[in-house]
Amino acid sequence: MALYSRVLCLLLLSSFRHVVTDRVEVLLPDVVEVRKGDNASIKCSFSIPGQSNYTYLRWLYEKNGRTNIYYVGQDGQYAYDTEYKDRIHMADNFTLFISEVTLQDERTFVCQIGAGPAVFGENRTELRVYKSPDPPDITVNDVGILVTDEATPEIAKCKSKNGHPAPNITWYKNKYSMHQDRDDVNIATTVIKESNGLYTVSSTLHSRLSKEDKDALFYCEVNYRLPGMDLMMESERVNVTILYPMENVSLIVESPSRPVTEGDSVELRCKGDGNPAPEYTFYRIWESDDGTEMEEELEGAIDGLLMLEDVRRNTSGHYRCRALDLNFAVSLQADTMLSVNYLDPIQMSRESPVELNLGDNTTIVCSTMGSQPSAIQWQWKEQVIAIGPLLNLSSVDYKSGGHYSCVVTMPGVPGLNASKGVTVVVKGQPLVSVKRLVRVMQNDVLNVTCEAFGYPAPEITWSANGSVMHKRETHRVSSELIVKVTKELLKSGIKCSAANSLGSSEELITLQEVKATTHPTTTSTEQKRAESKGVLIVAIIVCILAIAVLGAVLYFLYKKGKIPCGHSGKQEITKPGKQQEDIVVEMKSDKSPEETELLSGPTAEKPLPGDQGEKYIDLRN
Ligand SMILES: *[C@@H]1O[C@H](CO)[C@@H](O)[C@H](O)[C@H]1NC(C)=O
Ligand SMILES: *[C@@H]1O[C@H](CO)[C@@H](O)[C@H](O)[C@H]1NC(C)=O
Ligand SMILES: *[C@@H]1O[C@H](CO)[C@@H](O)[C@H](O)[C@H]1NC(C)=O
Ligand SMILES: *[C@@H]1O[C@H](CO)[C@@H](O)[C@H](O)[C@H]1NC(C)=O
Ligand SMILES: *[C@@H]1O[C@H](CO)[C@@H](O)[C@H](O)[C@H]1NC(C)=O
Ligand SMILES: *[C@@H]1O[C@H](CO)[C@@H](O)[C@H](O)[C@H]1NC(C)=O
Ligand SMILES: *[C@@H]1O[C@H](CO)[C@@H](O)[C@H](O)[C@H]1NC(C)=O
Ligand SMILES: *[C@@H]1O[C@H](CO)[C@@H](O)[C@H](O)[C@H]1NC(C)=O
Ligand SMILES: *[C@@H]1O[C@H](CO)[C@@H](O)[C@H](O)[C@H]1NC(C)=O
Ligand SMILES: *[C@@H]1O[C@H](CO)[C@@H](O)[C@H](O)[C@H]1NC(C)=O
Ligand SMILES: *[C@@H]1O[C@H](CO)[C@@H](O)[C@H](O)[C@H]1NC(C)=O
Ligand SMILES: *[C@@H]1O[C@H](CO)[C@@H](O)[C@H](O)[C@H]1NC(C)=O
Repeated sequence: MALYSRVLCLLLLSSFRHVVTDRVEVLLPDVVEVRKGDNASIKCSFSIPGQSNYTYLRWLYEKNGRTNIYYVGQDGQYAYDTEYKDRIHMADNFTLFISEVTLQDERTFVCQIGAGPAVFGENRTELRVYKSPDPPDITVNDVGILVTDEATPEIAKCKSKNGHPAPNITWYKNKYSMHQDRDDVNIATTVIKESNGLYTVSSTLHSRLSKEDKDALFYCEVNYRLPGMDLMMESERVNVTILYPMENVSLIVESPSRPVTEGDSVELRCKGDGNPAPEYTFYRIWESDDGTEMEEELEGAIDGLLMLEDVRRNTSGHYRCRALDLNFAVSLQADTMLSVNYLDPIQMSRESPVELNLGDNTTIVCSTMGSQPSAIQWQWKEQVIAIGPLLNLSSVDYKSGGHYSCVVTMPGVPGLNASKGVTVVVKGQPLVSVKRLVRVMQNDVLNVTCEAFGYPAPEITWSANGSVMHKRETHRVSSELIVKVTKELLKSGIKCSAANSLGSSEELITLQEVKATTHPTTTSTEQKRAESKGVLIVAIIVCILAIAVLGAVLYFLYKKGKIPCGHSGKQEITKPGKQQEDIVVEMKSDKSPEETELLSGPTAEKPLPGDQGEKYIDLRN
């Protein structure tokens, strides 16, 4: 009996085991993701061993036990009377649809299949409901962070609301993510589930910062998920005020950027490198007679900028700025020297006009005082004729007269310069210059020119009647006479007379008659001279021609008033192509000690190297 019952039991067991191994295989996705408010669909598929049909299919959910929500049987299908009654339906392919999913729908759904009395199977799906959070809100600690803080100070707070599930917050400093670090970074995160089931995540960043972080930008990033994708949102970038002690202070002349000259407005800038900016005080430093420093406080500085208007040479000196950093109790100072450049008006050793007599020698000294070495030049007719303060005029003649200017520049200070002119007049009785012999034909209309040099300006008169035109310069008067050649005129010649208060002189122009066959060259020497400038050889020929035509008398007359060539080994530098040396200005660069005394210290010109000998500069036109 016992054996029977045992065998029966084994049979029952084995048959039961057989049923279990032949169970229905139900396939259901592990997880179904859906956005809140969207419709969810859960597909249930199954395979039943043998050819048999399912007898029923049931959908349930698990929450504190199991609740049936939908039934499908041979006798029809219906939704159970649950919260899902109106929100679910099932398609012919056994896919369960849940419309307008809510956060409460995030639970496990079960699809259960029965096929005959002992054949049964089920599988589960987890339904996850997602809701994207609001963009993160960042608030920065606007108190300012002391780099000397012992603790890790609060930098910023980041909050993201209304997400599901709770998102993650990551902090960034200049694009680099920040991680918890025992000494330097502390990130505290709180997650609050609101009554509506959504999450609010807040994160507070505490970090130790250094001066190098003063331009750092911080932001937080919210990482969240929606069905099928991982997403993120970034907060706006914020900077923090970092308070760090001043380490250096500088005092500079901020403007002008060129050397300062009198009349400028000067800006002195004091700058300490701490944050917040320190308080600045400016001082002028005076040294008393016994060598001790005295500080005179200067008023009117604004935020480390001191403006000195219309500076003068006495503004030059020693300036100081003191910066006081109250937060860190640091006081530093910086000094600077301000030098205001100047150039005094030029002094001349002679008053203008300088009146000289023919043949006089004189030296005019130009001098000035300046803050730096200056360069002095003498100019005549816009050409430099002497370098240095001395203008030597020797054996002056009428052509030496005119306007000379002394030009002073300061090479170290561009734009600082001065100039002063002096007029030299050479007094003397007139000196008449004419072409002595003119070849003419009777009844020609003759054009003759007479030049008279002298000062005061001479009056020119002609012995013949004709049309006359005068041209006056300081030391030179020229007159043009146009006259018809008559027999009488051929006989008498034409006399040109010039007179001023110091005397008079005259010259005769002899007219030589030529026959009609040969036309005399009437080209004037002036025209020739103009042409000659181009070609050197032509110039020499013209030169020789002119000398031949004019004759020896005029030449010697000219020579009489000049320095003889052989005098004391001096050399005359005359350019070829010019006919005569009219005036010679003597220049000497090496100075005797008494000359140097004439000059002010800084303006004294050093002798140019290789310029030891005497030089003559030709001043002719
Ligand atoms: C549930 O379905 C999945 C396929 O979606 C399958 O891999 C798994 O084995 C099933 N589980 C059971 C217990 O049948
Ligand atoms: C299984 O049963 C359903 C109704 O319960 C029926 O519609 C279907 O045709 C049956 N399938 C087979 C293979 O018998
Ligand atoms: C099941 O049927 C529904 C509607 O009939 C359809 O929208 C869905 O795509 C089907 N699912 C599968 C997996 O065939
Ligand atoms: C969700 O399902 C309902 C009915 O079941 C339908 O009216 C609605 O249009 C669906 N919504 C979406 C987004 O498919
Ligand atoms: C949030 O962080 C945790 C832990 O680092 C990670 O497992 C999870 O996937 C993150 N979630 C998102 C939405 O990135
Ligand atoms: C922060 O940035 C703003 C705008 O870029 C700027 O005006 C402000 O000075 C910065 N503050 C600090 C403390 O760097
Ligand atoms: C500022 O001071 C620090 C130390 O006091 C020094 O290393 C640095 O070179 C200084 N910087 C400037 C610009 O003077
Ligand atoms: C500097 O000189 C000017 C005249 O050029 C004078 O008015 C001013 O008082 C002087 N200032 C000082 C500080 O000596
Ligand atoms: C001017 O100097 C020259 C030599 O350079 C000399 O021959 C002449 O006599 C001097 N004239 C007068 C007026 O001193
Ligand atoms: C002299 O100074 C004036 C301004 O004061 C400037 O315009 C001129 O260029 C300067 N001349 C020279 C040669 O430096
Ligand atoms: C007279 O000659 C001079 C130069 O020799 C010339 O400049 C001037 O034009 C001439 N006058 C006339 C009226 O031809
Ligand atoms: C100018 O003349 C003086 C003598 O009067 C002489 O000592 C000096 O060297 C001369 N200077 C130049 C530049 O020739």
